Amino acid sequence: MLKKLKQRWKVNGINLVLIIFTFALGGSLCAITARKIMALTPIEERFIWLLIYIVLITLLWPFFVLLISIPMGQFVFFKDYLSKVWNNLSGKKSTVPLIAVFASGAGSNAQKIIEYFEARPAAGKVKLIVCSKAGAGVLKIAYQHQIDTILLDKEIFFHSDAYIIELKNRNIQFIVLAGFLWKVPSTLIKAYPNKIINIHPALLPKYGGKGMYGNHVHEAVISARDTESGITIHFVDELYDHGNIIFQANCNIAATDDAKDLANKIHLLEHEHYPVIIERVLKMQNRS
Ligand code: GAR
Repeated sequence: MLKKLKQRWKVNGINLVLIIFTFALGGSLCAITARKIMALTPIEERFIWLLIYIVLITLLWPFFVLLISIPMGQFVFFKDYLSKVWNNLSGKKSTVPLIAVFASGAGSNAQKIIEYFEARPAAGKVKLIVCSKAGAGVLKIAYQHQIDTILLDKEIFFHSDAYIIELKNRNIQFIVLAGFLWKVPSTLIKAYPNKIINIHPALLPKYGGKGMYGNHVHEAVISARDTESGITIHFVDELYDHGNIIFQANCNIAATDDAKDLANKIHLLEHEHYPVIIERVLKMQNRS
């Protein structure tokens, strides 16, 4: 039972205890306050008394659990929990954008993006990890965060709409490429216009194009003796590393840096900026 709750709410053991405590304390304080308020009223008819008492509890309960959640350090959880309850009661569909992260490798960017949105549940949710390589590290990360995965079949990906249907069925609204090494088919781009973004580990338009990924990029930059490199976040169009640029950030290259040193600097930049830029794009698209 507790294990199931931990999985469902995506919290660790300590947070689960604090959440249960908040529910209990908030509920008790709410009941005591409602009784005190009722004692001030002259109502004697049992049925009406009970009716008003229930209405009072329903109104006071969210206030008390939110209040108690602050010292318990669980405010974000309860804010999200109450907004979900409210959406369910009012029949409103969740407006949180659902994201699919496409990746082929270790998945350090995917991990940062997942963690970022786990901490900001109202901003977006990584609902799906789509991977082109069996055994890739990103699959393990998805498993640890209990996120569904799809392992792509090349033939189906490039020659049918099956995955587009799958993404739409899962209500995916936005696609983030994070070290995804296959070209995105034009059918998918058309199905998600301006809703697919990519991160490239160099300052485009330099060092982009077919075959320019991961360490190949860093080796090319080091061989050219450039003194700076950086990251580019851009919309995906039908050409490799070509769509409109959303954001770039730079880093210096020391004379002694090799491709591995540069890769580390680039990863730091990616982890710092990619989740924030994704959130910004989602917000902008939500407004328009
Ligand atoms: C990242 O550096 C990303 O920019 C690059 O692959 C790496 C994936 O790392 N993407 C490309 O080269 C795409 N052309 P990760 O698996 O640790 O996130």
